[in-house]
Amino acid sequence: MCGIVAYIGKKDAYPIIIKGLKRLEYRGYDSAGVALFNGDLNVYKKKGKVNDLVSFVKGKNLSGNVGIGHTRWATHGEPNDINAHPHTSDDGRLTIIHNGIIENYATLKEALIKEGHTFTSDTDTEVLVHLIGALQDKDNLELEEAVRIALSQVVGAYAIVVLDRNDPTKLVAARKASPLVLGIGQDEFFLASDATPLVGYTSQVVYLNDEEIAVVSNDGTFEIKTIDNEIQTPFIQLLNMNIEKLEKGNYEHFMLKEIYEQPNTIADCMRGRVNAAAGWLKMGGIEEQEERIFNAKRFIMAACGTSWHAALIGEYLFEELARIPVEVEYASELRYRNPIINKDDVVIALSQSGETADTMAALELAKDKGALIYGIVNSVGSSISRITDSGSYIHAGPEIGVASTKAFTGQVTALTLMAIYMGYKRGTIPKSYYHQLLEGLEKIPAKVKEALECDKQVKELAKKFINTNHTLYLGRGYNFPIALEGALKLKEISYIHAEGYPAAEMKHGPIALIDENMPVVVIATNKSAYEKIVSNIQEVKARKGIVIAIVTKGDEEISKIADYTIEIPDTEEPFTPLLSVIPLQLLSYHIALARGCNVDQPRNLAKSVTVE
Ligand code: F6R
Repeated sequence: MCGIVAYIGKKDAYPIIIKGLKRLEYRGYDSAGVALFNGDLNVYKKKGKVNDLVSFVKGKNLSGNVGIGHTRWATHGEPNDINAHPHTSDDGRLTIIHNGIIENYATLKEALIKEGHTFTSDTDTEVLVHLIGALQDKDNLELEEAVRIALSQVVGAYAIVVLDRNDPTKLVAARKASPLVLGIGQDEFFLASDATPLVGYTSQVVYLNDEEIAVVSNDGTFEIKTIDNEIQTPFIQLLNMNIEKLEKGNYEHFMLKEIYEQPNTIADCMRGRVNAAAGWLKMGGIEEQEERIFNAKRFIMAACGTSWHAALIGEYLFEELARIPVEVEYASELRYRNPIINKDDVVIALSQSGETADTMAALELAKDKGALIYGIVNSVGSSISRITDSGSYIHAGPEIGVASTKAFTGQVTALTLMAIYMGYKRGTIPKSYYHQLLEGLEKIPAKVKEALECDKQVKELAKKFINTNHTLYLGRGYNFPIALEGALKLKEISYIHAEGYPAAEMKHGPIALIDENMPVVVIATNKSAYEKIVSNIQEVKARKGIVIAIVTKGDEEISKIADYTIEIPDTEEPFTPLLSVIPLQLLSYHIALARGCNVDQPRNLAKSVTVE
């Protein structure tokens, strides 16, 4: 949460920073601000989106070859102009941008107030800049030394960049538990929360490690040290990202673009991993740790939100196809409940961003307990991908819409490949079924494309539900996590209350909610438990609920009893979630749009949840 960007070099910093902030806006959009140096320091900040800042600074002095910028997701202090970053030290000499939380800010603030400091904002960040300034003044320290000492007194998470008005030839940056990427250009440097602001400027990047401090100068030199003052040899990597992936193209919203990208992103996830004609499926991440993975007694999947729903599908896949026991955990619960994790467990973390604080902490805990750590991650070079022992990238490309869509299907695809790989090797999938699955897998991208053809129908249907206050989503088996995911998609972007339930659980409580005003989305594809789900639909209809059924193409039985049916192509049962989620993504998109909601940037949310 919160996005930070900084630039130092020979170019104008402002346009680079603003463009970068727009790319990072998915991380928070409560307020935005910049600090630019050109003979003097100019700080501009505004409540609202980056575009509100852009309007606010029109006509102001925006010159300078060095600057820092921030887009905020509020934690400490309400979203307003004062709490917006950058924050400055007492005398206005230092400015800071910060992503993370300084947990001991209250104690530090009290001590600083006693020393005579005055604070203008309610943020934890302001404490940090005062502390650095105080240390710098007291012993006449170099900025990097003051930052280093200040950070050793801080408890919490941070990615920061500090600019000193008295020495604007350099920027000092540091990170712990919040991401920070350094881009190296020709006599210029970029610092950002992820690599997207660097695209188009440089492809040379260094992902800073926890407790590292970088000093970048406008003479083209830089140095990385640890907080313990040890000089580090930077690991410079090549960035593989292109601009089209960061732009909306012909789509009205990133979310819609990302929904439509799924035939390609699923194919990208399978590329080089599956070849049905040659009869093989490879998973490099498993091969790297084959012995420990095949001897594992149990898999624990840890994730949050949509990634947790993908993990639930993973449980069904692994247990059915590979006959391996799986437990699925909310990372936020796992990390605090003293779980039993053993050396012969494999802990799989699922994360689009690879930065989710709870997932990261759960992994660290599992690592300490000796388990093998495996990552299913989208964001290349992210913190989670770097601490895992092994893993599989999902190759979905940057996901910018706050509501996760293509990352979800990417995660499910990766889990499906893993389950088939392990099942075949363990002998729990017979050869003929294995080949059938491989052939079925290769057809999935085309079937997703076909499933997307329901878009027009869903758009019309959405109009009927714009004034609804509650919606129930029901599914069984592989479609139960899809019910959860459909409900989450609806509530997060349209603000309509929605609940996902295993269809059979309905009669244990939620059935009381059903009347003629209650829309009930039932994922009723034609495989095992079909008759049971038909009975569940009958139960809803008997109470006059409005049934929207997601059915397999050609289904005639359900269309007779449901109010509306949306067809998806037939497939092997374990692949159903990859298709049944598509109409639900579209449904939430169109309902939200028709209600006038900001689909890509829903209220109160941020895409990368780097705080607890
Ligand atoms: C919902 C959504 C969130 C994320 C969750 C985990 O659409 O995007 O629920 O799935 O915050 O994020 P990652 O996958 O980045 O760890």
